[in-house]
Amino acid sequence: PSVAVIVVAAGSGTRLGRPEPKAFVPLGDGTLLSHAVRGVLGMREPVQLVVVVPAERVDQTRAQLLAGADASAELAVVAGGELRQDSVAAGLAQLAPEVGIVLVHDAARALTPSLLFDEVAAAVRTRGHGIVPGLPVVDTVKRVADGRVVETVDRAELAAVQTPQGFPRGALERAYRLAGGEFTDDAALAAAAGMQVDVVPGDVRAFKITVPADLRRAEQLVAETAG
Ligand code: C5P
Repeated sequence: PSVAVIVVAAGSGTRLGRPEPKAFVPLGDGTLLSHAVRGVLGMREPVQLVVVVPAERVDQTRAQLLAGADASAELAVVAGGELRQDSVAAGLAQLAPEVGIVLVHDAARALTPSLLFDEVAAAVRTRGHGIVPGLPVVDTVKRVADGRVVETVDRAELAAVQTPQGFPRGALERAYRLAGGEFTDDAALAAAAGMQVDVVPGDVRAFKITVPADLRRAEQLVAETAG
């Protein structure tokens, strides 16, 4: 396949208040991770799927994905690292030679529609830049220092960005080689290396499941689509 999707699922997710790592928390008829994988496998084009999980979950995850997924998907399951970016780097090391476009996706955004993956991949292909999905910010946002409002930030200039984030493979690999410091998403890491990153419209269903209320919302959405 010319596209690879790296699903990072190696975080502990303590804010969810569950004993298992976040990606392995039950959701509907599966887990956060199994839903995220379903979104990837629903894409228009065949992709290489790279799933990054805690070291002690590698074997179990591989067995489950091989049993569940259609056999046409090219699959790799590897152990993640301490930081999110270490986990992405572990995924990058698994890319098949023919892959030219890489999408990086948070398993925590479990209900992301397949169409958003397709759109991000298409935008990377036509524009040749990094691509992130983003939504307008609805809250009024303040810059704060020492508990005091310093200023109100013009929200028209802001976007709340999601995953999947897509990149030309060579440019992303170069950005990871150059990366110094800690980044919360791949777009920030790519921009630090000088890559142009464009925003395309995101999707409300790509919200990140972080706290218990997010999980309840996800359960509701899954129940609605199943019914
Ligand atoms: O912690 P945060 O919510 O930013 O994590 C976003 C995604 O990155 C989650 O899907 C999580 O499993 C993944 N992650 C990872 N390895 C880490 C930390 C986070 O794969 N060391």
